[in-house]
Amino acid sequence: MTRKVEKSMDRLFEERWNRHKDEMRWLYMELYDNGDMFAELEEKMRSFAKERNATLKKLDKQRETDKDWYKSGDMLGMMLYIDNFGGTFKGVQDKISYLEKSGVNYVHLMPFLDVTEGKSDGGYAVKDFRKPQKRFGTIEDLQALTTKCHEKGICVCSDFVMNHTSEDHEWAKRARAGEGEYMSRYFFYDNDYIPGEYEKTVPQVFPTTAPGNFTWLPERKHYVMTSFYPYQWDLNYKNPRVFNEMMYNFLFLANQGIDIVRLDAVPYIWKELGTTCRNLPKVHTIVRLMRMVSEVVCPGVLLLGEVVMAPEKVVPYFGSVEKPECHMLYNVTTMATTWHTVATRDVRLLKRQLDTIDELPKDYVFLNYLRCHDDIGWGLDYGFLSQLGMEEVPHKNYLNDFFLGKAGKSNSCGELYNYDPVTQDARFCGTTASLCGIETALLKKDKTALKKAIDLDVMLHAYMFMQNGIPILYSGDEVAQLNDHSYREDPLKKEDSRYLHRGKMQWEKVEHLQDGDNVESEVYQRLRKLENIRKAHVAFCSDSAAWTVETYDQSTLCMGRYKDGEKILGVFNFSEEERMAWIQEADGLYEDLLTGKFIKPEGLTMQPYGFYWLKKI
Ligand code: GLC
Repeated sequence: MTRKVEKSMDRLFEERWNRHKDEMRWLYMELYDNGDMFAELEEKMRSFAKERNATLKKLDKQRETDKDWYKSGDMLGMMLYIDNFGGTFKGVQDKISYLEKSGVNYVHLMPFLDVTEGKSDGGYAVKDFRKPQKRFGTIEDLQALTTKCHEKGICVCSDFVMNHTSEDHEWAKRARAGEGEYMSRYFFYDNDYIPGEYEKTVPQVFPTTAPGNFTWLPERKHYVMTSFYPYQWDLNYKNPRVFNEMMYNFLFLANQGIDIVRLDAVPYIWKELGTTCRNLPKVHTIVRLMRMVSEVVCPGVLLLGEVVMAPEKVVPYFGSVEKPECHMLYNVTTMATTWHTVATRDVRLLKRQLDTIDELPKDYVFLNYLRCHDDIGWGLDYGFLSQLGMEEVPHKNYLNDFFLGKAGKSNSCGELYNYDPVTQDARFCGTTASLCGIETALLKKDKTALKKAIDLDVMLHAYMFMQNGIPILYSGDEVAQLNDHSYREDPLKKEDSRYLHRGKMQWEKVEHLQDGDNVESEVYQRLRKLENIRKAHVAFCSDSAAWTVETYDQSTLCMGRYKDGEKILGVFNFSEEERMAWIQEADGLYEDLLTGKFIKPEGLTMQPYGFYWLKKI
């Protein structure tokens, strides 16, 4: 960097710092009342800003000017495990052309930082926040990958596992050895009184695979708080050292060229006795502080909150328009409601859920998805469902049976996850294709069932692409990859059924994509067509007006989108029967974007699991 550029960058830092420093100091003092630690934070922010490379700084500036850069309708995300997709950072780099060909311009690299094998929770138990797992390559390889992605116009997302560290992290090791300074970075108790008090109000994350919220350490004769697995020790954010160090780890990650930082399990980061230890007000203080840290040092970086909570708890993580927290959140309730709709062929709850989302400010960007690497939990609006005659416990049982293929004329073949015998609650696992029935139909060699299953899979994607926000595919779903049952033979994975839908990318499927006559090419080509249409139409931008439309049919959903004079209607049949949709507001002629034909859609005959994307002309 020349002296001149360097000077102007320094000036930019000062401007950003001056914009936020008062609010930052205020919040920091409210949390920690520690001026020295705040001064240290400022100094470190300065040094991370200095170390940030010139290309990233340029990107920061561009994105700061074009604040809505991630809201255009042409973002398409894909999440992938490095080992499953390309083996190493270099291997992923070699596959960038496949990402490009698939229209992907946002790639989520699942956790890649150092872990202990066999005690990693899929990478979510980090041993060193500055070092990648050896098998993936070096930090330089990661930088090379992010640089290459940027050259190709692809953003890179990475996890930031901020709620806990691995029990093999340096701090945890020193805490276990009895160093008070490090014990104070976690929650340690020398008897079971306080742990017992917490257990009275704190729910369990993994009731079957890791019951309880504390782990006894015999060698230290202490309990340590472990909300997730016993080897994932909860960090104590009441200690400013924890907050500061985790901010430095965050900035280190950002400086490797990460564009989107996924705040893993963020609702859990603040604990108070007598509460559920979820979504407490101070969690929001911390996220707001983090947002400002990033706006000062790396304003091109986006915060993505992983908030898998009830709907009313999710939206507050956007903060307010004046005091924003996360840039983006997962649309988790809509995702779960989608599968409920598949199982019931009844769109009423989904319509209501979409109406709620559509009313939110357009600054709020959701990540839409059909499934991710985690299980699907039935977090639905049971108050509303009860009015429709569906009571919580029997309904959850029905949903689980449906996706096990045991009820409701289902061809689905998923597996339960963390069945809790006390609450009778269970969550769910399976790839999109297998949940849609493709696996069972192939097994039974049933052509009619296979057609329906493929149509359901494609229709669900078409509907997901119509939602407000950014669509994210789980790698392999674009070629209808099936469940991977082999996890049961792996002693390190067999207890965790989420591995059912975390199989290796089957590259041989990709080789057959041009052949035409197979499931993978059919699904892939049909999705590509939808993605191309989506990118070509301004009405798909995430800040368009969006609404739902009455269809006078319980199984068909109609969604509208409008921007800059362009109006699009999407109509989706969630049933395996032919249906008739009466589109109230279908005024005049529309172009069917898939066939190019012109139609008047007042009364639409809907094929089983069929759909339309219609543009008003
Ligand atoms: C998040 C991850 C999940 C992991 C948990 C604990 O919810 O998505 O896979 O088990 O955090 O880190």
